[in-house]
Amino acid sequence: MSENHAPTPVPRPASDARRREPMFPDGPAPDPAGSHHERRIRSFQPRRSRVTTGQGEALRRLWPQWGLDVDGMRRLDLGELFDAPGLPVVLEIGFGMGEATAQMAAADPGTGILACDVHTPGQGNLLALAERNGLKNVRVANGDAIILLREMLAPDSLAGLRVYFPDPWPKKRHHKRRLIQPEFLALAATRLAPGAVLHCATDWEPYAEQMLEVLSAAPDFENTQPDGGYAPRPEFRPLTRFEGQGLDKGHVVHDLMFKRRER
Ligand SMILES: C[S@@+](CC[C@H](N)C(=O)[O-])C[C@H]1O[C@@H](n2cnc3c(N)ncnc32)[C@H](O)[C@@H]1O
Repeated sequence: MSENHAPTPVPRPASDARRREPMFPDGPAPDPAGSHHERRIRSFQPRRSRVTTGQGEALRRLWPQWGLDVDGMRRLDLGELFDAPGLPVVLEIGFGMGEATAQMAAADPGTGILACDVHTPGQGNLLALAERNGLKNVRVANGDAIILLREMLAPDSLAGLRVYFPDPWPKKRHHKRRLIQPEFLALAATRLAPGAVLHCATDWEPYAEQMLEVLSAAPDFENTQPDGGYAPRPEFRPLTRFEGQGLDKGHVVHDLMFKRRER
């Protein structure tokens, strides 16, 4: 399973995940895959953020049913992930606080959203939103989406992939942390069904240019736009929290929609 995204993880000692006290005994595990043992540059910075009472309560109560730890130890059967078997499943990487995710799930109950982030308050927030809105088509995954893609998802299993406002890592020395890179695209392509769309959006112009360049050069993807440029913002993508902050600063938002080529 590791052939697509070297290097292979270094096995961690069994005790490792348990060294840190879990904040929520039945909730998301701290660093479920022990990813600090993997010598790979990560697209996120581990951070401690305050979990509100409501988020904590949602994590405690709803995680056992709707949460999923990205431990890298098992293959998921996406067809069985939701109450309606066989629902097409889209992966969203980096949902933040999850407001846009919940809105998209409510607007499209015929699609399952596997929403992955490392941010505990956001996980609690999305669980609470899903419950409040009676959503049956959202699962919240805790951990690094690279491990989820590489170790836990089967080839051709995804009906789509959404990466909305990934961390822009503006400093040059941090560019290597950006998610949208050739290596990531090669891995994502193996998990997307032929014809499935990878949809990215960013308000950071230099990152948008990089995305367009690497996606256009990726052999497994083709631009849905005949002119080879950015896509018009699709109506189905709600305003995200991070996007709103970018717009307040006068940033211009770009959407990119690339289709997984037929094999
Ligand atoms: C800038 S925020 C954008 C959040 C949201 N999409 C929005 O537009 O408001 C990027 C999010 O991606 C998450 N993230 C970054 N790399 C990730 C990875 N490899 N796996 C899972 N989540 C990741 C971060 O924790 C953060 O919540």
